[in-house]
Amino acid sequence: MTPEPVLPPHFRFGTATAAAQVEGAADTDGRGPSIWDTFCSEPGRVRGGDTPTVACDHYHRMPEDVAMLGELGVDEYRFSISWSRVLPGGLRGTDDEGVNRAGLDFYSRLVDELLSAGVRPVPTLYHWDLPQALQDAGGWLERATSEALGDYAALLAETLGDRVTRWLTLNEMNVHTLYGHALTDHAPALGMGLDCLPVAHNLLRAHGLAVDAIRGAARPAGGDGAGGGPLEVGVVQQHFPVLPATDSEEDTGAADLFRILTNWLFSDPILRGAYPEAWVAEMVAASAGLTSDQLAADLAVISRPLDLYGVNYYEPTRIEAPRPDKDYSGVLEVDIPADMPFSPVRIEGVERTDFDWPVIPSGLRDILVTLHERYPGLPPVVVTENGCSYHDEPGDGGRVRDDRRIAFQRAHLAAVAEAIDAGVDVRGYYVWSAMDNFEWAAGYAERFGLVHVDRATQSRTRKDSWHWYRELIAAHRAGR
Ligand code: FCB
Repeated sequence: MTPEPVLPPHFRFGTATAAAQVEGAADTDGRGPSIWDTFCSEPGRVRGGDTPTVACDHYHRMPEDVAMLGELGVDEYRFSISWSRVLPGGLRGTDDEGVNRAGLDFYSRLVDELLSAGVRPVPTLYHWDLPQALQDAGGWLERATSEALGDYAALLAETLGDRVTRWLTLNEMNVHTLYGHALTDHAPALGMGLDCLPVAHNLLRAHGLAVDAIRGAARPAGGDGAGGGPLEVGVVQQHFPVLPATDSEEDTGAADLFRILTNWLFSDPILRGAYPEAWVAEMVAASAGLTSDQLAADLAVISRPLDLYGVNYYEPTRIEAPRPDKDYSGVLEVDIPADMPFSPVRIEGVERTDFDWPVIPSGLRDILVTLHERYPGLPPVVVTENGCSYHDEPGDGGRVRDDRRIAFQRAHLAAVAEAIDAGVDVRGYYVWSAMDNFEWAAGYAERFGLVHVDRATQSRTRKDSWHWYRELIAAHRAGR
């Protein structure tokens, strides 16, 4: 059997979820609609017509779900906060007009419950679920939306900041910009192509404003225990190696361009205080209507120093310069329009998950090493998501034998250990996901959980991978 990966003693383990994917309770206790509620109500958007209205009903089953995390023994749990549950209309008015106390209380109880289970709460402020009211006012094309996120961040930090010591601002701005704004595969399905660049800039600026707001308002109580310790603020990006299909100038050029637009456009402003190329900066400034002085002022906000950098990894992307008349549809989960100067190519000869994603653990080591080399000031890294969808169902005696997931997570943890050996300061690893959940446009058919969730009964079954992870964490803690 492959030996278990060995991680340094200070390494921490966790799992992750997001509000829209697990909470359900879409209309409960004063929650307002988000762009994902709208998107999913439109026919043809989501596989099987699935919606997040009920999801895992985590809003009502939170204590049971947290007890399971305690039993699993994770050090940390990454969840996201539903903006429209806390501020149904999106905005925090004077005298806290617009604040939904019942919604805020849910997160306060969740934090308390986690702390009493010995699990450190790690909230993400924004995991793609913009309040619909803000979308109606222009969404991420508007600068004001960044300020609204800053106000929302301050409210959360004032409320939870005595107990929460690690905050993550936004999840995967690159995927949100590309899938939801350039294309139409995710909410809000704007399909703007490269015209959506102001969205990227406003998301980045929202991140910077959130960092300031959290640092300004959070007051960790300190002391020992899961909630103690200094304040840490970070962000989560999806990163992936972009591999040219051949060594030709055309293909490497196409891959370089794709890499810039999907990776560095979102991390360079944060980690280097600049857009990756002069032409990108010019396009952003022109499309967002900013002078060069305004752009520089924004970049100063966007590049506030961070305490950690979250990396989500799933798979590399192979890119070539488009060949005339070749059909590229179905290569990725989303189709890149045919008139773009880069086309994704299927990676052959590797294992694939049941979601048809290639299994390439070395890509995680490679991207971590690349980030370390590209950014001399890279803060400590946490792998904030890594996981796989396999459709294993309970069999004899109710047991879920998901050996393929165990092999996947084990191999990716080994890749993290290799990155650490190569000098990258990786401090933790969160499995996506704590439980099967609503996988965006793919609906409930994709199952990423360590825990199986029965859609009809909501009953939870710990998969074999859950037991494996628990043992791995216990062994690490015991120094075995
Ligand atoms: C990531 C998302 C996360 C989950 C995984 C499978 O891009 O951040 O919510 O859906 O993919």
